[in-house]
Amino acid sequence: MISGSTKIVGLIGHPVEHSFSPLMHNAAFGELGMDYAYVPFNVYPENLKSAILGAKSLNIKGFNVTIPHKINVMKYLDKLDPISKLIGAVNTIDFKEMKGYNTDGIGCIRAIEEVTSIKDKNVVVAGAGGASRAISFYLARENPQSIAILNRNMNKAKSLAEDVKNSKLMDNVIFDSTDKIAGYVSDADILIDTTPVGMSPHTNDEAIVKAEDMHSDLVVNDIVYNPNETVLLSEAIKAGATPVYGIKMLLYQGAESFEIWTGKKAPVEVMEKTLRKTLD
Ligand code: ATR
Repeated sequence: MISGSTKIVGLIGHPVEHSFSPLMHNAAFGELGMDYAYVPFNVYPENLKSAILGAKSLNIKGFNVTIPHKINVMKYLDKLDPISKLIGAVNTIDFKEMKGYNTDGIGCIRAIEEVTSIKDKNVVVAGAGGASRAISFYLARENPQSIAILNRNMNKAKSLAEDVKNSKLMDNVIFDSTDKIAGYVSDADILIDTTPVGMSPHTNDEAIVKAEDMHSDLVVNDIVYNPNETVLLSEAIKAGATPVYGIKMLLYQGAESFEIWTGKKAPVEVMEKTLRKTLD
């Protein structure tokens, strides 16, 4: 119930109507009995500055930020969390400090750490776009043995690998073509697919790695969450590898944002149940 003291958080993007975040966050606030409401705002690119300044004036507590504002919004903030600065994109704003964060990458890390630690592991990241960038810097912070960034467009993989190395978070970051992925996966402990391959409605795409090139000690994360079991995760299950479903990254990026805004531990069970119900 909205009252005189309800605190507002929300999502800005364009479009926003397909987002699962309002349901997930409002379920979390309901579970903890918190007087908050999460509202989606469809903000056209030309209105971004006035939306941010207006939100501050309206005493809105926090925003999630989605396409197409994740990069442009940074110039209206006073502070950036160090990793979001390295990534060059934010998906969360805390209006208390006018500070930007990027919880996408940490969402992926928390999802993987449900099943294995990342420290000293060999990690293969497929793709070198925005999602891969957010994930790669957070991975580097966990001190893996190596990160191999593989992409169709090798220049993009090279540029991302160099940026991660230059961050001084870790040194052993290499890049290559996605064509060579099978060789890398045979020596890897963790594979993260950040490409849209297998995303609905293209559920019959060919997986970027087949079961015969995986092994049973491998952890395979596909950040695609629709369908829940992508072609890649089906191959992983066939190989006896451990699947990490894309819904977990969606869940934990939301949990991190929730914790930034409220200072309270997010009720992840309820949030996950809400996401699953919505996606089914
Ligand atoms: P996002 O923000 O979700 O990361 P993006 O920035 O468009 O989206 O990046 C998509 C990534 O998936 C890119 O690395 C892209 O490879 P290219 O840079 O070579 O285009 C990769 N990708 C998209 N479709 C792919 C496919 N069919 N096979 C392999 N990689 C693919």
